[in-house]
Amino acid sequence: MESLPRLSFVSCIALLAYFAFLASAEHHVRQFVIAPRPVTRLCRTHQSITVNGQFPGPTLEVRNGDSVAITVINRARYNISIHWHGLRQMRNPWADGPEYITQCPIRPGQSYTYKFTIEDQEGTLWWHAHSRWLRATVYGALIIYPRLGSPYPFVMPKRDIPILLGEWWDRNPMDVLRQAQFTGAAANVSDAYTINGQPGDLYRCSRAGTMRFPIFPGETTVQLRVINAGMNQELFFSVANHQLTVVETDSAYTKPFTTNVIMLGPGQTTNVLITANQRPGRYYMAARAYNSANAPFDNTTTTAILQYVNAPTRRGRGRGRGQMAPVFPVLPGFNDTATATAFTNRLRYWKRAPVPQQIDENLFFTVGLGLINCANPNSPRCQGPNGTRFAASINNMSFVLPRRNSVMQAYYQGMPGIFTTDFPPVPPVQFDYTGNVSRALWQPIKGTKAYKLKYRANVQIVLQDTSIVTPENHPMHLHGYQFYVVGSGFGNFNPRTDPARFNLFDPPERNTIGTPPGGWVAIRFVADNPGAWFMHCHIDSHLGWGLAMVFLVENGRGRLQSVQAPPLDLPRC
Ligand code: C2O
Repeated sequence: MESLPRLSFVSCIALLAYFAFLASAEHHVRQFVIAPRPVTRLCRTHQSITVNGQFPGPTLEVRNGDSVAITVINRARYNISIHWHGLRQMRNPWADGPEYITQCPIRPGQSYTYKFTIEDQEGTLWWHAHSRWLRATVYGALIIYPRLGSPYPFVMPKRDIPILLGEWWDRNPMDVLRQAQFTGAAANVSDAYTINGQPGDLYRCSRAGTMRFPIFPGETTVQLRVINAGMNQELFFSVANHQLTVVETDSAYTKPFTTNVIMLGPGQTTNVLITANQRPGRYYMAARAYNSANAPFDNTTTTAILQYVNAPTRRGRGRGRGQMAPVFPVLPGFNDTATATAFTNRLRYWKRAPVPQQIDENLFFTVGLGLINCANPNSPRCQGPNGTRFAASINNMSFVLPRRNSVMQAYYQGMPGIFTTDFPPVPPVQFDYTGNVSRALWQPIKGTKAYKLKYRANVQIVLQDTSIVTPENHPMHLHGYQFYVVGSGFGNFNPRTDPARFNLFDPPERNTIGTPPGGWVAIRFVADNPGAWFMHCHIDSHLGWGLAMVFLVENGRGRLQSVQAPPLDLPRC
């Protein structure tokens, strides 16, 4: 009889805790003022487009379940929109952000409030401009902590350090883009990589600004939230003498494993735990290119310093007095595809994953570059290889952004003439994708095509890189979804033998996955989020060349299965 009143006391407490948990969701109201501001790097000052005068922009810290209202006020001279990279935005494409896909851009002098809720997501994401090349300076971290009282599936990190890897041009990035769009040639490569906006010790005029992260000797589980916010380059990242324990990619937990180096494509995030178990001293963290293409790239190295607070000082005078030179990490070679692949292949979802087993939509997409032939190859507008203009495509369709309206608005309003729904589910012509491709197949077709998906369809996409112009790792990003990466390999995908080796048990969950250069990767997801969702290469030069398409996911019949009504302040084109 004793235990009865006790039990009900316990359940009472549990109920109270449950209500406290429901009430604990917060509403965050913020303002992002987009405006130019002088930023000095590499000895020169540029009027960079920034958010609230900060570069990188402010870190957004929320919890799973919270809601957010961010008013973006455009005081710059460019149209802009902001994308919350990796957020699912359930039934709410209006808050997703890619210009001319889910909204028209916010014009200079205008504003728009992004309103959304974090539904069942936690981890490291980020936000960035989704208008031409503005994201070169308009980006920041988006950190989603677990709900109050809900644990991490690994030992709770004592401290978090966001590490934003970026790319810096010693020019206005919009002018770099404009020049490339005019000539049809590849855009100039960046002049520096950055860690939290700073190039670091190895660049001119940069030493004073180098990021320093103090760490206490013996400190355990410091979590680095590494984000590749770079425009055009996959990056290797390493910390001298310190093992990295990978615990999360793209806001999905992984089975922990240790490594000396990680690789991130633009758009990807990776959380790693480090422990301060080395001799008191100073250690570089460094990032530099993983370049899989036959193309020029920025071959410089960005650094920051992990600094033990009790690091011994050096006697002497003058420059560098009082501090030991930091230890440098070993980084893989620029073209070390073996290391990049070995890292990616170790990723596993942290538990058994609910991977779709039966497939309703079996899609095969070739992704790669192309060349547009010119009537006059000597024209200043045809400065690509042999008097052509660069292009890129999925299934030979080179995506063109609409101008008169966004795809989502046109779809919602039933406005014709903005896009068509005949995006091909398979390549129009079959060929040896990774072999020596006939020149007749190098020129894609331009268009604004979407592919329709039924609500809750189980979708599989095999993304097949082509060797047209060059084989390359293309970091493919899908908006509005997280997907499982069930398989990958080099060469051409073989539909008879490759599926047998798929991991349908604990494949990693991501929002961005690179095609192995000259290879393929297979992803699966359930189309449970209605709306227009962009899928594209997160290398911005490739996106500009048309390496993109749109999924139109239809509404379901049930309650909470339809796209919400658009907000009243949604910008007009
Ligand atoms: Cu992070 Cu469509 O982009």
